Amino acid sequence: TRIRVVSGDEKKDNLIYEEAKEILNNGGLVAFPTETVYGLGGDALDANASKKIYAAKGRPSDNPLIVHIADLDALYKLSVEVPEKALALAKKFWPGPMTMILKKSDIVPSATTGGLETVAIRMPSHKVANRLIAQSGVYIAAPSANTSGKPSPTRAEHVINDLSGKIDMIIQDDTVDIGLESSIIDLSEEIPTILRPGYITKKDFEEVIGEVRIDPAIVGEVKPGVKPKAPGMKYKHYAPNAEITIVEGDTKKVVDYINEEIKKADELGKKTAVMATDETKSCYGHEHVYVLGSREDELSIAKNLYKVLRDFDKDGIEVVYSESFDSADVGQAIMNRLIKAAGHKLVKVD
Ligand code: TXA
Ligand code: MG
Repeated sequence: TRIRVVSGDEKKDNLIYEEAKEILNNGGLVAFPTETVYGLGGDALDANASKKIYAAKGRPSDNPLIVHIADLDALYKLSVEVPEKALALAKKFWPGPMTMILKKSDIVPSATTGGLETVAIRMPSHKVANRLIAQSGVYIAAPSANTSGKPSPTRAEHVINDLSGKIDMIIQDDTVDIGLESSIIDLSEEIPTILRPGYITKKDFEEVIGEVRIDPAIVGEVKPGVKPKAPGMKYKHYAPNAEITIVEGDTKKVVDYINEEIKKADELGKKTAVMATDETKSCYGHEHVYVLGSREDELSIAKNLYKVLRDFDKDGIEVVYSESFDSADVGQAIMNRLIKAAGHKLVKVD
């Protein structure tokens, strides 16, 4: 696996993009940064490239990929029907951290869409992603560049740990900004439905297109027999090896509960940790307090979450107690990822 570090000098970097173009046009795989997380890219119209992506990630082949584009024309090539609402959202939020589900056109192979008749499309705003797509001249199918089941990568180091030796190239530029995957909205049916919460919230969508629903699978546990609409949402995702419990309720009670439970786990000889915030970090008399960021700045928490989840593995942590996040804004996306990382282990202490 070739690792190429972006310098920021447009001319000098040209070689990197030319090399990536060559790889993508020959059915190979290139990992690259976006404004959300690193993606693992291949030619979206090449069924074999998509198969390679699934293989490299160890991802089930019924979990469809997002097709990344660099201009609006592509939207009409990949989809047979672009509703007015989709166009309104594209104009407002693209390039940016939004993925839209639309009815697919014939050029999109079913290997890319996991056998579905719809396709997920996103136009990223990250400079490297955008130039890679434009200069390569291919639509790039890209899931997050992690081993399936691991937290999504927000740094090149994470991609290297998971995929080195399995893909052709990694473009390194650690300027990933948001740290959580794009918001996904399904526009292939009557009422637009959010399938995955992200930086762009329900309120943001509703300001542009009116009523928007949230897929029930996002909030509750996915019950057997009930199929979530984004197939990816059914897998235990984003998970480190440690067993995580999220504790919800009044701050003082949460802190007391966590201190007590950690003490018990310590006595059992477990390697334990607390996941906390700037506001509460001093309340835990414990040597392993991992600080996500400040509650005053939820974006800082979003940005650090996956790195901290990976750090637990690196540090051999076995048991984690975490505070919860429940605001209507990015907090919802943070909580959605955290609940999955915890395998739905949530305790209320009110
Ligand atoms: O921010 C992102 O979206 C990142 C970067 C690389 O762009 N990509 C990403 O891809 O998170 P991935 O594969 O990790 O997540 C794609 C999600 C999965 O949950 C998948 O099931 C859903 O999108 N999805 C893809 N195509 C779909 C479709 N046609 N219908 C419903 N859900 C779909
Ligand atoms: Mg993923």
